[in-house]
Amino acid sequence: MNFLKIKSAWIAVLIVCFGFVIHAGEDSTHSNLINILRIAVVSDTHVNFGANQQIYASNFKKVISQVNTADVDVVAITGDLTENGTRQEYSEFQNLVKNFKAPVLVLPGNHDIGNKKQGKTTNEVSAERLAIYHAVFGKSWFAFKVNGFKLIGLNSCLFGSGLDTETEMWEFLRFTFEEQDPGRVLVFAHYPLFVDRVDEPGSYSNIDPAYRSELLALFQRHKVLCYCSGHLHRSITNNFDGILCYSAPPVSYGLSGQKVGWALITVSNMVVRIEQKFIAP
Ligand SMILES: [Fe+2]
Repeated sequence: MNFLKIKSAWIAVLIVCFGFVIHAGEDSTHSNLINILRIAVVSDTHVNFGANQQIYASNFKKVISQVNTADVDVVAITGDLTENGTRQEYSEFQNLVKNFKAPVLVLPGNHDIGNKKQGKTTNEVSAERLAIYHAVFGKSWFAFKVNGFKLIGLNSCLFGSGLDTETEMWEFLRFTFEEQDPGRVLVFAHYPLFVDRVDEPGSYSNIDPAYRSELLALFQRHKVLCYCSGHLHRSITNNFDGILCYSAPPVSYGLSGQKVGWALITVSNMVVRIEQKFIAP
């Protein structure tokens, strides 16, 4: 571990080239100690027992092998662990995921527990499906400190659901940010906050504006470094007021020509670097 002093005030830089994203922010209110954190972001594994599973499982095993070689501190899997959220699929997911060497944090996606509630959406998130997820994995949100960084995971399918668990998660989130000093924070969830514009309307692809605004206000106040999601089956990179908003490539199948793979996030003090890692089909 290095212990270097850095003097400059808040800066934010975003550089995207050849699949690398470097984001630098620094705030004199945070510790000047430099810690290094390496996170593998893995998303949309869609484990199932259908015709596609042979391909999806093969992709997943290749990703696990690459991640193990990369020697990361932690693996964050940002939802759509399975295709249908059944106990059998979760069991098969766990059979695969146990091969990661690093600790694994998981979050649910809409395929696991149901779509976010929006208008006449079918297959909405339900207490019954969420109960199965909670029985298998425990709480569908988390906060862990790793190498001096706070990793906060959210169940983004819950926003707007009206379920009791949504209220419980908001209480957890406000407590984590407002009543504790969260320090340097990276947030993980399934749904992106937004895809193209921060003021875009709610859709199947994003978090609805009311919850997006509340989350972003919270993240701005606490100078969150990065918000990592999945769901789109293609990677996107946005920057909102110094917050790097990134959606990782999928493990199972890509859309819009997206290659399958994962992302290595390296955080050094207030600098976030993202390297996308693709696998051969
Ligand atoms: Fe997905």
